[in-house]
Amino acid sequence: MLGNFSYHNPTKLYFGEDSLNYLMDELKNYGENVLLVYGGGSIKKNGLYDEIIAILKDCRKTVAEVPGVMPNPTVEKLNEGVAIARENGSQFILAVGGGSVCDYSKAVSVSVHCDDDPWQKYFIRFEEPACEIVPVGCVLTMTGTGSEMNGGSVITNHETKQKIGHVFGDNVMPKFSILNPRYTMTLPKYQMIAGIYDIFNHICEQYFSGEDDNTSDYISEGLMRGLIHSSRIAVEDPQNYEARSNIMWTATWALNTLVSRGKTTDWMVHMLGQSVGAYTDATHGMTLAAVSLPYYRYIMPYGMKKFARFATEVWGISAEGKTDEQLANEGLNAMEAWMKDIGLVMNLTDLGAADDMIEGIADGTFILEGGYKVLARDEVIQVLKASMG
Ligand code: NZQ
Ligand code: ZN
Repeated sequence: MLGNFSYHNPTKLYFGEDSLNYLMDELKNYGENVLLVYGGGSIKKNGLYDEIIAILKDCRKTVAEVPGVMPNPTVEKLNEGVAIARENGSQFILAVGGGSVCDYSKAVSVSVHCDDDPWQKYFIRFEEPACEIVPVGCVLTMTGTGSEMNGGSVITNHETKQKIGHVFGDNVMPKFSILNPRYTMTLPKYQMIAGIYDIFNHICEQYFSGEDDNTSDYISEGLMRGLIHSSRIAVEDPQNYEARSNIMWTATWALNTLVSRGKTTDWMVHMLGQSVGAYTDATHGMTLAAVSLPYYRYIMPYGMKKFARFATEVWGISAEGKTDEQLANEGLNAMEAWMKDIGLVMNLTDLGAADDMIEGIADGTFILEGGYKVLARDEVIQVLKASMG
Protein backbone atom coordinates (compact mmCIF):
# COMPACT_ATOMS: atom_id res chain seq x y z
CA MET A 1 0.00 0.00 0.00
CA LEU A 2 2.01 2.97 -1.18
CA GLY A 3 -0.79 5.52 -1.31
CA ASN A 4 -2.07 7.96 1.29
CA PHE A 5 -5.77 7.78 2.02
CA SER A 6 -8.54 8.05 4.53
CA TYR A 7 -11.36 5.58 4.94
CA HIS A 8 -14.77 6.23 6.37
CA ASN A 9 -18.11 4.73 5.45
CA PRO A 10 -21.03 5.92 7.57
CA THR A 11 -23.77 3.64 6.17
CA LYS A 12 -25.19 1.22 8.73
CA LEU A 13 -26.18 -2.13 7.24
CA TYR A 14 -28.78 -4.66 8.35
CA PHE A 15 -28.35 -7.95 6.53
CA GLY A 16 -30.38 -11.13 6.35
CA GLU A 17 -33.92 -12.47 6.33
CA ASP A 18 -34.88 -10.59 9.50
CA SER A 19 -33.35 -7.29 8.50
CA LEU A 20 -36.63 -5.42 7.88
CA ASN A 21 -37.32 -5.73 11.62
CA TYR A 22 -34.84 -2.91 12.14
CA LEU A 23 -36.58 -0.40 9.89
CA MET A 24 -38.87 0.86 12.63
CA ASP A 25 -36.00 1.64 15.00
CA GLU A 26 -34.17 3.49 12.26
CA LEU A 27 -37.21 5.52 11.21
CA LYS A 28 -37.55 6.83 14.76
CA ASN A 29 -34.35 8.82 14.20
CA TYR A 30 -35.88 10.97 11.44
CA GLY A 31 -38.67 13.47 10.89
CA GLU A 32 -42.35 12.75 10.47
CA ASN A 33 -42.62 13.55 6.75
CA VAL A 34 -41.28 10.64 4.75
CA LEU A 35 -40.87 10.47 0.98
CA LEU A 36 -41.27 6.87 -0.17
CA VAL A 37 -39.46 6.30 -3.48
CA TYR A 38 -39.82 3.14 -5.57
CA GLY A 39 -39.71 1.77 -9.09
CA GLY A 40 -42.14 0.51 -11.66
CA GLY A 41 -44.18 -1.80 -9.48
CA SER A 42 -42.15 -4.89 -8.53
CA ILE A 43 -42.52 -4.04 -4.83
CA LYS A 44 -46.29 -3.94 -5.19
CA LYS A 45 -46.35 -7.35 -6.86
CA ASN A 46 -44.15 -9.07 -4.29
CA GLY A 47 -45.84 -7.57 -1.22
CA LEU A 48 -42.94 -5.49 0.05
CA TYR A 49 -44.83 -2.24 -0.52
CA ASP A 50 -47.60 -3.31 1.88
CA GLU A 51 -45.08 -4.33 4.53
CA ILE A 52 -43.26 -1.01 4.29
CA ILE A 53 -46.47 1.02 4.42
CA ALA A 54 -47.56 -0.89 7.53
CA ILE A 55 -44.26 -0.08 9.25
CA LEU A 56 -44.48 3.60 8.27
CA LYS A 57 -48.02 3.72 9.67
CA ASP A 58 -46.93 2.09 12.92
CA CYS A 59 -44.28 4.80 13.20
CA ARG A 60 -46.98 7.46 12.62
CA LYS A 61 -45.21 8.89 9.61
CA THR A 62 -46.90 11.09 7.03
CA VAL A 63 -46.01 9.53 3.71
CA ALA A 64 -45.70 11.10 0.25
CA GLU A 65 -44.75 8.85 -2.65
CA VAL A 66 -42.62 9.01 -5.77
CA PRO A 67 -43.50 5.85 -7.70
CA GLY A 68 -42.25 4.90 -11.15
CA VAL A 69 -38.53 5.53 -10.89
CA MET A 70 -37.33 3.88 -14.08
CA PRO A 71 -34.12 1.91 -14.64
CA ASN A 72 -31.52 4.56 -15.61
CA PRO A 73 -33.49 7.39 -13.93
CA THR A 74 -33.91 10.55 -15.95
CA VAL A 75 -33.40 14.22 -15.26
CA GLU A 76 -37.15 14.90 -15.76
CA LYS A 77 -37.97 12.31 -13.13
CA LEU A 78 -35.43 13.90 -10.81
CA ASN A 79 -37.10 17.30 -11.16
CA GLU A 80 -40.50 15.72 -10.50
CA GLY A 81 -39.26 14.08 -7.29
CA VAL A 82 -37.69 17.30 -6.06
CA ALA A 83 -41.02 19.12 -6.55
CA ILE A 84 -42.93 16.40 -4.64
CA ALA A 85 -40.40 16.49 -1.80
CA ARG A 86 -40.69 20.28 -1.55
CA GLU A 87 -44.50 20.26 -1.60
CA ASN A 88 -44.58 17.73 1.20
CA GLY A 89 -41.77 19.10 3.33
CA SER A 90 -40.03 15.72 3.19
CA GLN A 91 -37.59 15.19 6.04
CA PHE A 92 -36.47 11.70 5.16
CA ILE A 93 -36.31 9.68 1.91
CA LEU A 94 -36.96 5.96 2.04
CA ALA A 95 -35.73 4.29 -1.17
CA VAL A 96 -37.19 0.84 -1.80
CA GLY A 97 -35.76 -0.78 -4.92
CA GLY A 98 -32.57 -1.31 -6.88
CA GLY A 99 -29.65 0.91 -7.76
CA SER A 100 -31.84 3.21 -9.83
CA VAL A 101 -34.15 3.97 -6.91
CA CYS A 102 -31.23 4.44 -4.48
CA ASP A 103 -29.24 6.62 -6.90
CA TYR A 104 -32.32 8.67 -7.66
CA SER A 105 -33.10 9.20 -3.98
CA LYS A 106 -29.60 10.55 -3.38
CA ALA A 107 -30.00 12.95 -6.31
CA VAL A 108 -33.30 14.18 -4.86
CA SER A 109 -31.73 14.45 -1.39
CA VAL A 110 -29.13 17.00 -2.52
CA SER A 111 -31.58 18.96 -4.68
CA VAL A 112 -34.61 19.61 -2.45
CA HIS A 113 -32.97 22.55 -0.66
CA CYS A 114 -30.83 23.68 -3.58
CA ASP A 115 -31.82 26.70 -5.69
CA ASP A 116 -29.62 25.72 -8.61
CA ASP A 117 -30.58 23.36 -11.43
CA PRO A 118 -29.51 19.93 -10.12
CA TRP A 119 -28.50 18.48 -13.51
CA GLN A 120 -26.23 21.44 -14.26
CA LYS A 121 -24.83 21.71 -10.75
CA TYR A 122 -24.14 18.09 -9.91
CA PHE A 123 -23.88 16.25 -13.21
CA ILE A 124 -22.36 18.84 -15.55
CA ARG A 125 -20.31 21.03 -13.19
CA PHE A 126 -19.71 18.24 -10.62
CA GLU A 127 -20.14 20.62 -7.70
CA GLU A 128 -20.68 19.39 -4.17
CA PRO A 129 -23.90 20.15 -2.29
CA ALA A 130 -23.80 23.37 -0.32
CA CYS A 131 -27.34 23.03 1.05
CA GLU A 132 -29.12 20.92 3.64
CA ILE A 133 -29.20 17.27 2.49
CA VAL A 134 -32.33 15.23 3.17
CA PRO A 135 -31.22 11.93 4.76
CA VAL A 136 -31.79 8.73 2.76
CA GLY A 137 -32.34 5.15 3.90
CA CYS A 138 -32.57 2.15 1.54
CA VAL A 139 -34.38 -1.16 1.41
CA LEU A 140 -32.57 -2.94 -1.42
CA THR A 141 -34.40 -5.28 -3.82
CA MET A 142 -31.84 -5.71 -6.60
CA THR A 143 -28.18 -6.30 -6.08
CA GLY A 144 -25.31 -5.03 -8.23
CA THR A 145 -24.58 -1.32 -8.06
CA GLY A 146 -23.40 -0.97 -4.46
CA SER A 147 -25.54 2.17 -4.28
CA GLU A 148 -26.76 0.97 -0.88
CA MET A 149 -23.39 1.85 0.69
CA ASN A 150 -21.83 4.47 -1.54
CA GLY A 151 -22.33 8.07 -2.65
CA GLY A 152 -22.87 7.26 -6.33
CA SER A 153 -25.81 8.67 -8.26
CA VAL A 154 -26.19 8.17 -12.01
CA ILE A 155 -28.73 10.24 -13.95
CA THR A 156 -29.61 10.05 -17.66
CA ASN A 157 -30.46 13.00 -19.89
CA HIS A 158 -32.10 11.62 -23.04
CA GLU A 159 -32.32 15.02 -24.67
CA THR A 160 -28.57 15.57 -24.63
CA LYS A 161 -27.78 11.84 -24.81
CA GLN A 162 -25.71 11.86 -21.63
CA LYS A 163 -25.63 9.39 -18.76
CA ILE A 164 -23.49 10.81 -15.98
CA GLY A 165 -22.58 9.65 -12.50
CA HIS A 166 -21.62 11.88 -9.60
CA VAL A 167 -19.92 10.19 -6.67
CA PHE A 168 -20.96 12.26 -3.69
CA GLY A 169 -19.20 12.23 -0.33
CA ASP A 170 -19.98 10.56 3.00
CA ASN A 171 -22.72 13.10 3.74
CA VAL A 172 -24.84 11.77 0.85
CA MET A 173 -24.34 8.06 1.46
CA PRO A 174 -27.43 6.28 2.80
CA LYS A 175 -27.76 6.55 6.57
CA PHE A 176 -28.73 2.88 6.65
CA SER A 177 -29.50 0.09 4.21
CA ILE A 178 -31.57 -3.03 4.71
CA LEU A 179 -30.29 -5.99 2.73
CA ASN A 180 -32.59 -8.99 2.67
CA PRO A 181 -31.48 -11.50 0.01
CA ARG A 182 -35.06 -12.85 -0.11
CA TYR A 183 -36.19 -9.61 -1.72
CA THR A 184 -33.92 -10.25 -4.68
CA MET A 185 -35.50 -13.64 -5.40
CA THR A 186 -38.28 -12.17 -7.55
CA LEU A 187 -35.81 -10.49 -9.92
CA PRO A 188 -36.03 -11.60 -13.54
CA LYS A 189 -33.01 -13.74 -14.46
CA TYR A 190 -31.79 -11.13 -16.96
CA GLN A 191 -31.54 -8.55 -14.17
CA MET A 192 -29.90 -10.98 -11.77
CA ILE A 193 -27.20 -11.81 -14.30
CA ALA A 194 -26.68 -8.16 -15.26
CA GLY A 195 -26.25 -7.38 -11.56
CA ILE A 196 -23.71 -10.17 -11.15
CA TYR A 197 -21.62 -8.78 -13.97
CA ASP A 198 -21.95 -5.23 -12.63
CA ILE A 199 -20.44 -6.45 -9.35
CA PHE A 200 -17.64 -8.31 -11.12
CA ASN A 201 -16.78 -5.30 -13.21
CA HIS A 202 -16.78 -2.93 -10.25
CA ILE A 203 -14.04 -5.07 -8.76
CA CYS A 204 -12.13 -5.22 -12.08
CA GLU A 205 -12.29 -1.44 -12.46
CA GLN A 206 -10.41 -1.04 -9.18
CA TYR A 207 -8.16 -4.10 -9.49
CA PHE A 208 -6.77 -3.27 -12.94
CA SER A 209 -4.73 -0.28 -11.83
CA GLY A 210 -1.49 0.33 -9.98
CA GLU A 211 1.67 -1.71 -9.64
CA ASP A 212 2.27 -1.85 -5.88
CA ASP A 213 1.70 -4.86 -3.66
CA ASN A 214 -1.66 -3.76 -2.31
CA THR A 215 -4.03 -5.34 0.20
CA SER A 216 -6.97 -4.05 -1.84
CA ASP A 217 -5.99 -6.45 -4.65
CA TYR A 218 -5.99 -9.50 -2.38
CA ILE A 219 -9.42 -8.57 -1.06
CA SER A 220 -10.61 -8.06 -4.64
CA GLU A 221 -9.37 -11.48 -5.71
CA GLY A 222 -11.27 -13.12 -2.88
CA LEU A 223 -14.43 -11.20 -3.74
CA MET A 224 -14.13 -12.20 -7.40
CA ARG A 225 -13.56 -15.90 -6.62
CA GLY A 226 -16.54 -15.96 -4.31
CA LEU A 227 -18.73 -14.18 -6.82
CA ILE A 228 -17.83 -16.55 -9.68
CA HIS A 229 -18.63 -19.51 -7.42
CA SER A 230 -21.98 -18.15 -6.21
CA SER A 231 -22.99 -16.90 -9.65
CA ARG A 232 -22.79 -20.41 -11.11
CA ILE A 233 -25.04 -21.73 -8.34
CA ALA A 234 -27.52 -18.85 -8.65
CA VAL A 235 -27.84 -19.20 -12.41
CA GLU A 236 -28.66 -22.92 -12.03
CA ASP A 237 -30.89 -22.38 -9.03
CA PRO A 238 -32.03 -18.75 -8.60
CA GLN A 239 -33.85 -19.61 -5.38
CA ASN A 240 -30.63 -20.72 -3.64
CA TYR A 241 -30.55 -18.42 -0.62
CA GLU A 242 -26.92 -19.00 0.25
CA ALA A 243 -25.72 -18.09 -3.24
CA ARG A 244 -28.04 -15.07 -3.49
CA SER A 245 -26.96 -13.80 -0.08
CA ASN A 246 -23.28 -14.13 -0.96
CA ILE A 247 -23.89 -12.21 -4.18
CA MET A 248 -25.72 -9.47 -2.29
CA TRP A 249 -22.95 -9.03 0.28
CA THR A 250 -20.24 -9.12 -2.39
CA ALA A 251 -22.01 -6.36 -4.32
CA THR A 252 -21.89 -4.09 -1.29
CA TRP A 253 -18.18 -4.65 -0.67
CA ALA A 254 -17.30 -4.36 -4.34
CA LEU A 255 -18.25 -0.69 -4.39
CA ASN A 256 -18.34 0.83 -0.94
CA THR A 257 -14.90 2.46 -1.29
CA LEU A 258 -12.99 -0.32 0.52
CA VAL A 259 -11.21 -2.01 -2.40
CA SER A 260 -10.35 1.30 -4.04
CA ARG A 261 -8.11 2.29 -1.13
CA GLY A 262 -4.57 2.85 -2.37
CA LYS A 263 -5.63 2.35 -6.01
CA THR A 264 -5.78 4.84 -8.87
CA THR A 265 -8.73 2.85 -10.35
CA ASP A 266 -9.61 2.52 -14.05
CA TRP A 267 -13.42 2.88 -14.61
CA MET A 268 -13.16 3.01 -18.41
CA VAL A 269 -15.54 0.07 -18.91
CA HIS A 270 -18.12 2.09 -16.98
CA MET A 271 -17.43 5.25 -18.97
CA LEU A 272 -17.97 3.32 -22.21
CA GLY A 273 -21.00 1.46 -20.83
CA GLN A 274 -22.64 4.63 -19.52
CA SER A 275 -22.33 6.37 -22.85
CA VAL A 276 -23.83 3.30 -24.52
CA GLY A 277 -26.64 3.53 -21.96
CA ALA A 278 -27.34 7.14 -22.91
CA TYR A 279 -27.93 6.03 -26.51
CA THR A 280 -29.73 2.73 -25.95
CA ASP A 281 -31.20 2.87 -22.40
CA ALA A 282 -29.92 -0.71 -22.12
CA THR A 283 -29.54 -2.48 -18.75
CA HIS A 284 -26.38 -1.17 -17.05
CA GLY A 285 -24.65 -4.49 -16.35
CA MET A 286 -25.21 -5.67 -19.91
CA THR A 287 -23.60 -2.55 -21.38
CA LEU A 288 -20.52 -3.35 -19.30
CA ALA A 289 -20.49 -6.97 -20.41
CA ALA A 290 -20.64 -5.99 -24.08
CA VAL A 291 -17.58 -3.71 -24.00
CA SER A 292 -15.43 -5.49 -21.40
CA LEU A 293 -13.52 -8.07 -23.40
CA PRO A 294 -12.64 -5.81 -26.33
CA TYR A 295 -11.46 -3.21 -23.79
CA TYR A 296 -9.44 -5.58 -21.61
CA ARG A 297 -7.86 -7.31 -24.59
CA TYR A 298 -6.87 -3.90 -25.91
CA ILE A 299 -5.21 -2.67 -22.69
CA MET A 300 -3.75 -6.05 -21.67
CA PRO A 301 -0.23 -5.39 -23.07
CA TYR A 302 0.02 -2.28 -20.86
CA GLY A 303 -0.86 -4.15 -17.68
CA MET A 304 0.45 -7.60 -18.56
CA LYS A 305 1.66 -8.56 -15.10
CA LYS A 306 -1.68 -7.79 -13.53
CA PHE A 307 -3.61 -9.68 -16.18
CA ALA A 308 -1.31 -12.70 -15.63
CA ARG A 309 -1.98 -12.48 -11.88
CA PHE A 310 -5.73 -12.23 -12.60
CA ALA A 311 -5.45 -15.55 -14.49
CA THR A 312 -3.76 -17.44 -11.70
CA GLU A 313 -5.39 -15.85 -8.64
CA VAL A 314 -8.95 -15.41 -9.88
CA TRP A 315 -9.36 -18.17 -12.46
CA GLY A 316 -7.00 -20.75 -10.94
CA ILE A 317 -4.96 -21.17 -14.12
CA SER A 318 -1.60 -22.88 -13.66
CA ALA A 319 1.39 -20.66 -14.46
CA GLU A 320 3.72 -23.57 -15.13
CA GLY A 321 5.79 -23.12 -18.27
CA LYS A 322 3.77 -20.10 -19.45
CA THR A 323 4.76 -16.55 -20.29
CA ASP A 324 2.85 -13.65 -18.75
CA GLU A 325 1.23 -13.05 -22.11
CA GLN A 326 -0.03 -16.62 -22.42
CA LEU A 327 -1.40 -16.48 -18.89
CA ALA A 328 -3.03 -13.11 -19.42
CA ASN A 329 -4.78 -14.40 -22.53
CA GLU A 330 -5.94 -17.55 -20.78
CA GLY A 331 -7.34 -15.47 -17.93
CA LEU A 332 -9.44 -13.36 -20.26
CA ASN A 333 -10.54 -16.49 -22.14
CA ALA A 334 -11.69 -18.01 -18.85
CA MET A 335 -13.58 -14.82 -18.06
CA GLU A 336 -15.22 -14.92 -21.49
CA ALA A 337 -16.30 -18.54 -21.00
CA TRP A 338 -17.82 -17.69 -17.61
CA MET A 339 -19.63 -14.66 -19.02
CA LYS A 340 -21.15 -16.78 -21.79
CA ASP A 341 -22.03 -19.56 -19.34
CA ILE A 342 -24.05 -17.27 -17.09
CA GLY A 343 -25.86 -15.77 -20.09
CA LEU A 344 -24.57 -12.21 -20.46
CA VAL A 345 -25.11 -10.13 -23.59
CA MET A 346 -21.71 -10.09 -25.27
CA ASN A 347 -22.06 -7.36 -27.92
CA LEU A 348 -23.54 -3.91 -28.36
CA THR A 349 -25.65 -4.75 -31.39
CA ASP A 350 -27.84 -7.01 -29.27
CA LEU A 351 -28.39 -4.06 -26.92
CA GLY A 352 -29.74 -1.85 -29.69
CA ALA A 353 -26.57 0.03 -30.65
CA ALA A 354 -26.00 0.74 -34.34
CA ASP A 355 -22.89 1.72 -36.30
CA ASP A 356 -24.13 5.29 -36.76
CA MET A 357 -24.15 5.78 -32.96
CA ILE A 358 -20.46 4.99 -32.47
CA GLU A 359 -19.16 8.54 -32.98
CA GLY A 360 -21.72 9.92 -30.57
CA ILE A 361 -21.05 7.21 -27.99
CA ALA A 362 -17.34 8.01 -28.22
CA ASP A 363 -18.08 11.72 -27.73
CA GLY A 364 -20.06 10.90 -24.58
CA THR A 365 -17.29 8.70 -23.13
CA PHE A 366 -15.26 10.44 -20.44
CA ILE A 367 -11.59 9.50 -20.74
CA LEU A 368 -10.15 8.66 -17.32
CA GLU A 369 -6.48 8.26 -16.54
CA GLY A 370 -6.20 5.84 -13.62
CA GLY A 371 -5.88 2.56 -15.57
CA TYR A 372 -3.03 0.93 -17.47
CA LYS A 373 -3.61 2.85 -20.69
CA VAL A 374 -5.07 6.29 -21.29
CA LEU A 375 -7.19 5.87 -24.40
CA ALA A 376 -7.11 8.31 -27.28
CA ARG A 377 -10.39 8.98 -29.06
CA ASP A 378 -9.55 6.69 -31.99
CA GLU A 379 -8.83 3.92 -29.51
CA VAL A 380 -12.26 4.45 -27.93
CA ILE A 381 -13.75 4.06 -31.41
CA GLN A 382 -11.70 0.93 -31.99
CA VAL A 383 -12.94 -0.66 -28.75
CA LEU A 384 -16.54 0.30 -29.52
CA LYS A 385 -16.32 -1.15 -33.04
CA ALA A 386 -14.88 -4.38 -31.66
CA SER A 387 -17.79 -4.49 -29.19
CA MET A 388 -20.44 -4.39 -31.92
CA GLY A 389 -20.10 -8.17 -32.35
O1 NZQ B 1 -38.87 -0.74 -11.26
P1 NZQ B 1 -39.22 -2.08 -10.71
O2 NZQ B 1 -40.60 -2.50 -11.03
O3 NZQ B 1 -38.89 -2.19 -9.25
O4 NZQ B 1 -38.31 -3.13 -11.52
C1 NZQ B 1 -36.89 -3.12 -11.45
C2 NZQ B 1 -36.22 -2.68 -12.74
O5 NZQ B 1 -37.03 -2.93 -13.85
C3 NZQ B 1 -36.45 -4.55 -11.35
N1 NZQ B 1 -36.41 -5.02 -9.97
C4 NZQ B 1 -35.68 -4.54 -8.96
N2 NZQ B 1 -35.85 -5.30 -7.87
C5 NZQ B 1 -36.73 -6.27 -8.21
C6 NZQ B 1 -37.09 -6.10 -9.55
N3 NZQ B 1 -37.96 -6.91 -10.18
C7 NZQ B 1 -38.47 -7.92 -9.48
N4 NZQ B 1 -38.15 -8.17 -8.19
C8 NZQ B 1 -37.28 -7.38 -7.53
N5 NZQ B 1 -36.93 -7.67 -6.26
O6 NZQ B 1 -35.14 -4.58 -11.87
C9 NZQ B 1 -35.03 -3.60 -12.89
C10 NZQ B 1 -33.69 -2.92 -12.75
O7 NZQ B 1 -33.62 -2.17 -11.57
P2 NZQ B 1 -32.49 -1.06 -11.41
O8 NZQ B 1 -32.63 -0.44 -10.08
O9 NZQ B 1 -32.49 -0.17 -12.60
O10 NZQ B 1 -31.14 -1.93 -11.49
P3 NZQ B 1 -29.73 -1.67 -10.87
O11 NZQ B 1 -29.73 -1.98 -9.43
O12 NZQ B 1 -28.79 -2.40 -11.73
O13 NZQ B 1 -29.46 -0.10 -11.04
C11 NZQ B 1 -29.03 0.45 -12.25
C12 NZQ B 1 -28.70 1.92 -12.13
O14 NZQ B 1 -27.63 2.15 -11.19
C13 NZQ B 1 -26.58 2.87 -11.82
C14 NZQ B 1 -26.71 2.44 -13.26
O15 NZQ B 1 -26.02 3.27 -14.15
C15 NZQ B 1 -28.20 2.47 -13.46
O16 NZQ B 1 -28.66 3.77 -13.70
N6 NZQ B 1 -25.28 2.61 -11.14
C16 NZQ B 1 -25.09 3.12 -9.90
C17 NZQ B 1 -23.87 3.02 -9.25
C18 NZQ B 1 -23.59 3.58 -7.92
N7 NZQ B 1 -24.55 4.15 -7.23
O17 NZQ B 1 -22.46 3.55 -7.47
C19 NZQ B 1 -22.72 2.36 -9.88
C20 NZQ B 1 -23.10 1.47 -11.01
O18 NZQ B 1 -21.93 1.27 -11.78
C21 NZQ B 1 -24.20 1.99 -11.86
O19 NZQ B 1 -23.71 2.92 -12.81
ZN1 ZN C 1 -21.69 -0.56 -12.49
